[in-house]
Amino acid sequence: MKPGTLLAQAALSAFAAQGARAAETEPSFCCDALESAGFGEIIHYPGGDAYEARQQAYWSPLARLQPGCIIQPGRAEEVSTIVKTLVLANKTQPCQFAVRSGGHTTYGGAANIDGGVTLDLGFMNSTTYFANNQTAAIQPGARWGSVFRTLDNAGVASAGGRAASVGVAGLVLGGGNSFYSARKGLVCDNVANFEVVLANGEVVFANRETNADLFQVLKGGSNNFGIVTRIDLQTFDRENVWGGIVGYPISTAGLHSKALVNFGEKLADDPYASTIMILLYHSARGFPFIANAYEYTKPVERPPIFDEFMAIPGNFSSTMRITNMTDITEELEQPVGFRWKFMALTFQNDERIIKKATELFHKMIESIGDADEWYFSPMFQPMPASFAKHSAANGGNILGLDRFTENNILFLYDVGWMSEENDELFHKLSEQYVEDLDSYAKSIGKSNLFVYLDYADPTQDPLSTYGHANIQKMRAAAAKYDPDRVFQTMVPGGFKLSKVRVPEDEEQHDEL
Ligand SMILES: Cc1cc2nc3c(=O)[nH]c(=O)nc-3n(C[C@H](O)[C@H](O)[C@H](O)COP(=O)(O)OP(=O)(O)OC[C@H]3O[C@@H](n4cnc5c(N)ncnc54)[C@H](O)[C@@H]3O)c2cc1C
Ligand SMILES: *[C@@H]1O[C@H](CO)[C@@H](O)[C@H](O)[C@H]1NC(C)=O
Ligand SMILES: *[C@@H]1O[C@H](CO)[C@@H](O)[C@H](O)[C@H]1NC(C)=O
Ligand SMILES: *[C@@H]1O[C@H](CO)[C@@H](O)[C@H](O)[C@H]1NC(C)=O
Ligand SMILES: *[C@@H]1O[C@H](CO)[C@@H](O)[C@H](O)[C@H]1NC(C)=O
Ligand SMILES: *[C@@H]1O[C@H](CO)[C@@H](O)[C@H](O)[C@H]1NC(C)=O
Repeated sequence: MKPGTLLAQAALSAFAAQGARAAETEPSFCCDALESAGFGEIIHYPGGDAYEARQQAYWSPLARLQPGCIIQPGRAEEVSTIVKTLVLANKTQPCQFAVRSGGHTTYGGAANIDGGVTLDLGFMNSTTYFANNQTAAIQPGARWGSVFRTLDNAGVASAGGRAASVGVAGLVLGGGNSFYSARKGLVCDNVANFEVVLANGEVVFANRETNADLFQVLKGGSNNFGIVTRIDLQTFDRENVWGGIVGYPISTAGLHSKALVNFGEKLADDPYASTIMILLYHSARGFPFIANAYEYTKPVERPPIFDEFMAIPGNFSSTMRITNMTDITEELEQPVGFRWKFMALTFQNDERIIKKATELFHKMIESIGDADEWYFSPMFQPMPASFAKHSAANGGNILGLDRFTENNILFLYDVGWMSEENDELFHKLSEQYVEDLDSYAKSIGKSNLFVYLDYADPTQDPLSTYGHANIQKMRAAAAKYDPDRVFQTMVPGGFKLSKVRVPEDEEQHDEL
């Protein structure tokens, strides 16, 4: 596909005029190196249909940066050659690249790059179930909807994402919260084996027996150690689930706060249950409401753990039903087209903090008014101490959640808006919201320092919250598996180990 090279040359002259950018990274040089390595067929350039289609397939418009080219490998061996080619080319000219799977990260630059190369794993999206060892071999660019379709058809289930369009690798490498967390731990705790392309191009396995240190750091350490090209996930026999979304007037917020806290305290006793409490405002509707997602991973209607929620009066809609996981994940999508911002916060399971978050929710609605079309859906997810208990049995993850003995709530700040001119306004008010909520939690002694990477914003530093010992483990693994620092210097996107702001004193850090 040589016409691409012409475009690359056009880009080169454009870049030659822009000295500062060209000095950082030279897209046509790096893309040409990949062309010379024989990848012409799978390289796409700006202006081409394939390039534009892949850009549109980023979930948030804020993630659609302008790489010099996008390369779409189909096999681990190709990923390996691509990495070797770029590392070699980088000795002549800087060749930075991004690694993309589903592309669901909200902010720009986690899985895309301006001017460099985007290594897009979107075509590596198959799921193969093996009955002999009850695992599913899932390629990194698969979406959870397609994973569950395959598993439902095979009569099995696994822990996994809760919205159909979300990518597999990004979610697993950040941890992964699922409907099965109380029963099975995080999604990453269900990995039997990773296939990984290392910085030197070697394709290795990481599991409990082989490269066990790499296995552990991949479970939460994101893109700092290699490129994951296959995830073997443990499965178990499937059952239909009782689940859906129930809409309530905002006047019931107080009852919901109470019910959610009580639910979080009881979850360890009935680990089949899961709830996301969602405050929701869409300016096009014009009024705030509550839209809770309830799921029970057995075909049982209204099990007792949901009694308090079921007694809350006045719901105006309900999709509660017994169905399969494929169907449930299709229901839990958020609308596309908005410029999304996610932020993560953790606090203890305390009603007062949910009330404070609801007050701040109303304040935000007043501040923004109808300045734009926007969609605001902060979410509260119980994260009791029991979630961390399943980790050690499978080689451990690196998130450090086992440090916490309290039952917590994982809070997802979630807002989307339409107009680019409002970017600054939404960033500013959102960061203020999260800071105010965190300060409140601290003021009553109920904050938790953990920042969940899969929900974190670039103003946050999730890896630094995993605890001193885990940061040291990640550093040791990076030094061992990527001694030349390819994933630190050449893959700038996402949360980088080399940028972790390490607290001087571990103890002080842990009680922050
Ligand atoms: C609608 C929606 C629903 C969600 N639901 C859930 C949920 O139920 N549970 C939950 O825990 N989270 C959820 N999330 C958050 C989700 O986990 C993150 O957005 C995650 O990053 C998505 O994975 P991805 O593959 O699409 O990400 P990408 O944006 O493609 O990648 C994310 C990061 O991982 C790195 N990366 C990607 N692939 C690889 C690879 N193969 N090897 C090495 N590094 C790689 C990238 O470089 C990037 O930094 C949801 C997000 C959205 C938008
Ligand atoms: C994999 O990706 C291709 C290209 O986007 C798409 O046509 C196909 O349906 C996807 N397969 C699965 C299983 O999702
Ligand atoms: C499961 O079995 C299949 C088929 O034999 C094999 O290819 C795969 O590597 C196995 N997975 C694990 C995690 O052992
Ligand atoms: C899942 O349920 C939906 C809705 O009932 C149904 O249409 C679909 O065929 C089911 N899929 C599988 C794989 O069982
Ligand atoms: C919703 O309200 C109806 C009517 O009051 C009630 O019968 C139903 O049980 C409620 N559903 C839930 C899930 O609370
Ligand atoms: C890539 O090139 C940059 C710029 O010369 C350099 O700083 C970096 O260390 C190089 N990285 C590797 C892995 O060679």
